[in-house]
Amino acid sequence: MSHLPEVTAEIAALRSEIRRHERLYYVDDRPEITDAEFDRLMRRLQTLENEHPETITPDSPTQRVGGEPRAGLVKAPHSAPLQSLDNAYNEQELRDFDRRVREGVGTEAAVAYVAELKLDGLSMAIRYASGRLHQGLTRGDGRVGEDVTANLRTIRSLPLVLEGEPDFEVRGEVLMPRAAFQKLNQEREEQELERFANPRNAAAGAVRVLDTRITASRGLEFYAYSLLGAGEMAQPTQAATMRALAAMGFKTSRWQCCPSLDDAFAFIASCERDREMLAYEIDGVVLKVNDMELRQKLGSTSKFPRWAIAYKFAAREAVTKVLDIVMSVGRTGALTPTAWLEPVAIGGVTVSRSTLHNLDEIARLGVRVGDTVRVERSGDVIPKVVEVVAEAPRGPEPYQAPTSCPVCGSGAHREPEEVVLRCVNANCPAKLSQSLHHFARRGVMNIGGLGPALIEQLTNSGQVKDLADIYEKIGAESLATLDRMGEKSAANLMQEIERSRHNELWRVIYGLGIRMVGERTAQALAHQFGSLDRLMEATEEELENTEEVGPKIAASLHIFFEEAANRELIRRLQRAGIDPKVDTAPPLAGPQPLAGKKLVLTGTLERHTRDEMKARIEAAGGKVAGSVSSSTDYLVAGEAAGSKLDKARALGVTVLAEAAIETLLAGN
Ligand code: IVH
Repeated sequence: MSHLPEVTAEIAALRSEIRRHERLYYVDDRPEITDAEFDRLMRRLQTLENEHPETITPDSPTQRVGGEPRAGLVKAPHSAPLQSLDNAYNEQELRDFDRRVREGVGTEAAVAYVAELKLDGLSMAIRYASGRLHQGLTRGDGRVGEDVTANLRTIRSLPLVLEGEPDFEVRGEVLMPRAAFQKLNQEREEQELERFANPRNAAAGAVRVLDTRITASRGLEFYAYSLLGAGEMAQPTQAATMRALAAMGFKTSRWQCCPSLDDAFAFIASCERDREMLAYEIDGVVLKVNDMELRQKLGSTSKFPRWAIAYKFAAREAVTKVLDIVMSVGRTGALTPTAWLEPVAIGGVTVSRSTLHNLDEIARLGVRVGDTVRVERSGDVIPKVVEVVAEAPRGPEPYQAPTSCPVCGSGAHREPEEVVLRCVNANCPAKLSQSLHHFARRGVMNIGGLGPALIEQLTNSGQVKDLADIYEKIGAESLATLDRMGEKSAANLMQEIERSRHNELWRVIYGLGIRMVGERTAQALAHQFGSLDRLMEATEEELENTEEVGPKIAASLHIFFEEAANRELIRRLQRAGIDPKVDTAPPLAGPQPLAGKKLVLTGTLERHTRDEMKARIEAAGGKVAGSVSSSTDYLVAGEAAGSKLDKARALGVTVLAEAAIETLLAGN
């Protein structure tokens, strides 16, 4: 289908406007419009493209979000080999380099250099054809790289289209800024995934990942430092190259012309001084002969160009002694080993602790108390033990993993195929806030008003030390002693707590926060066992015979219920009246009066929450959708139903009141 010329024109204008603002924001760091205004332009373009999908091109700004995963990376040859650089580690080695350069070009006089930051990322070769980003390759083996064009497109600071339709290749470094790296590692920690060791590794993963939506979310940047091209694109010097790249809209890092070697030393000193303050990691300074003709004359060895060298900063590492290995307990109950070190200065910071990550890492390093180790500070704020350099003289015992939690003394268990030790006590003080939050939250025990802020107050004041205390200790009087707690909200909270005493069994099971027991598993367990008592006494085999429960979950349940502290907790909950029973007649195989029916819920139901109604409908074989369409069988309308009700009426969908759905659920 053809589209109106006006639409094409508007799309083109929007794209060029958005490109201009992307450059101002991501490259030049001086936005002219607010984020909201930018979003509005983007949304308008998105809308037009959705209406006219035939206009979408891979270099449209909307395509930076990343797309469906691909099957694998494809290899492609480089236009010219990606060489590596020779290294210098001190002033003398730089002077030797300078002498070789002057001998090579046959001069006594000083040779001018350009000094640049040595960015600690991954080198990339990116080709533009008629001004459009055409192909981006990783270094690979230097001759053949991997095609990561789709990943690179998601990098906001990388131009997708350039004015004047030039053909050229740009080379530079893809990196992950420190801030993005720290955010990523924090998220990974929360999801209990292994942290990335440094921004470089994190960037390497993100740039080669097959699902480019992941790349798009990782905040990568591209910094350019060389330009390969003919005609107008060919630059006489490195300084001209850097200016041309910046003028085209590429990010360039700090660089400086150095007419003499002394200027280079001054630049190096200033970079080393500012190193910690940069937004990204660097590992040195690269010194390049400025004049391209001189470079030609100098040529390359089999490995490196003779016209450039990398001056490497001293590694930020030190050797020190392990005084102790101590387990700390995180919010999720994971026990993390930390090495306590004899304090040592690394890169201007005194280090006295270092993470050992987990038990496998301890075994891999073979580290024991008393050993002398090498500690490194990389991009991560947390220093890391990288190797044992000398064992303790009298050969201490290998590190013995604890069998109990250092905070509460309950059992610490390691799940099969897992490297993490975990405290299994639901009430362990180290994870109390998290346990309470999970127990009380919406979708679990639904105790409205018992949110994170109040939980902090209750635990800090010592009023609540475990889950059962919610029912045993919280009262109107004790609440009145808390900050910002009015009478009305105290009364509401008491009412919510009261109501939660009558919650269904699955909610209580789910609320205990047993590893790997989610909502569905909790529901299946409730149906299978019918009471906390029966669940607690179940054998591993009986547990495994439950729908949704495999050997791993069965083991996790078994470990949980074996722990005396957990059994005590359940007894106390039961004494507080939380001991729901379920009819264990097999509901999954039972009658399915709503089999194959599609339902939509709207408005406020009187007798059940939405979640509960949804669970009951699903147990009866029905499906619950979010919006009304012509394929909807029933709309269940509670109090104050709105637009969904109008739509259902317009489409002629049967509308059921709460009483009517009860009748259907009962099988009538
Ligand atoms: S120029 C033929 N400039 O360092 C020389 N490289 O150790 C091409 N690197 O593979 C490289 N910052 O990945 C150059 N400003 C910079 C650099 C830089 C980082 C990387 C690059 C190269 C490696 C060599």
